[in-house]
Amino acid sequence: MSTRTAAGAKTLPGRYYTSETVYRRESERIFGEKWLYAGRAGRITAPGDYFLFENGNENLIILRNRRGQIRAFHNLCRHRGTRLCKAPEGRFSSSIQCPYHAWTYRLDGELSGAPNMHEVEGFAKSDYPLLPAACAEWEGGIFVNFGENPEPFTEAYAAVHGKFSIWHLPELEVAHRIEYTVRANWKLIMQNYSECYHCPSLHPALNRLTPYRNSSNDLEAGLILGGPMHLARPGGSMTMSGLTCAPPLGEITGEALNSIYYYVFFPNFLLSLHPDYVLTHRLDRLAADRTRVICEWLFHPDAMARPEFDPSGAIEFWNMTNRQDWEVCELSQQGVESRAYRPGPYAELESMIAAFDRTYLEALGELQG
Ligand code: FES
Ligand SMILES: [Fe+2]
Repeated sequence: MSTRTAAGAKTLPGRYYTSETVYRRESERIFGEKWLYAGRAGRITAPGDYFLFENGNENLIILRNRRGQIRAFHNLCRHRGTRLCKAPEGRFSSSIQCPYHAWTYRLDGELSGAPNMHEVEGFAKSDYPLLPAACAEWEGGIFVNFGENPEPFTEAYAAVHGKFSIWHLPELEVAHRIEYTVRANWKLIMQNYSECYHCPSLHPALNRLTPYRNSSNDLEAGLILGGPMHLARPGGSMTMSGLTCAPPLGEITGEALNSIYYYVFFPNFLLSLHPDYVLTHRLDRLAADRTRVICEWLFHPDAMARPEFDPSGAIEFWNMTNRQDWEVCELSQQGVESRAYRPGPYAELESMIAAFDRTYLEALGELQG
């Protein structure tokens, strides 16, 4: 059972995939205001551990402080604005020091050292801490928000509160990671993920494991969209052999053992829950026609510790499927850049794309009745 697409729903006009004006508007209204997936909390376990999160002109230092809390700070010095930190990840000893004039900040952002600034009348270090950004941890993932007054995370993500608890997602660790650069607009990638209409022609192997009509949606509007697909062979998974490559995760039972759950988290995160592992995609906009996709395969550490652990069937399966998808996304980008392109009709099997487009246009402030 799939949701009905509003009759007459069509693909977006070309400017949404090409225009610099639209791109800048997205930077403000969407990537500057919505919660964005940054990475796994397990990437920063010890005090001082950090990684950088880049988003357009913005760059955050996401770190774990001495009290074990995750904090996000804009990666710029309060003196003359210099980028503080270049290495994409690492560990700060106990402070962050600017390479220019050696202003020094504590891991909670406080300015602790500013050489010679005592000579400046009225200067107070307490006036110049690092600038924080909102961050939240959900199911082992770190989400950040560049907005000044962000919608509280728990409200934005209310639809999935407790929804995935049986998978025990916070326990999972990254077994493998692949970065792709796709010559396509980020929305073409989100839209591609949102339907399996293309599965029979593009993904014959996937379509054998989960025939394209075995799909349904349980979140059909809003920031989070998607639902399960049922395995043709109960007890299997999405791997080259169709067999699982680890024991079932957490406390999953029943339908969850025979289904793959696919969700789009607007605007930059895809979550795919399998019986034996979890796949995540983070999308980074690089330009109107270019997107970096970071794909991670998450497994339970107990499964990873076993001598016979072999995730290669899952990695190969999704790397193959990803590449098939990126290729058509790139072809779509080429087509929608043409002056001859005009919006085409969505199929009923593409109802989730129509929902995605509504969420997108609403976020952009352009939804017309
Ligand atoms: S710009 Fe950072 S200390 Fe001067
Ligand atoms: Fe696909």
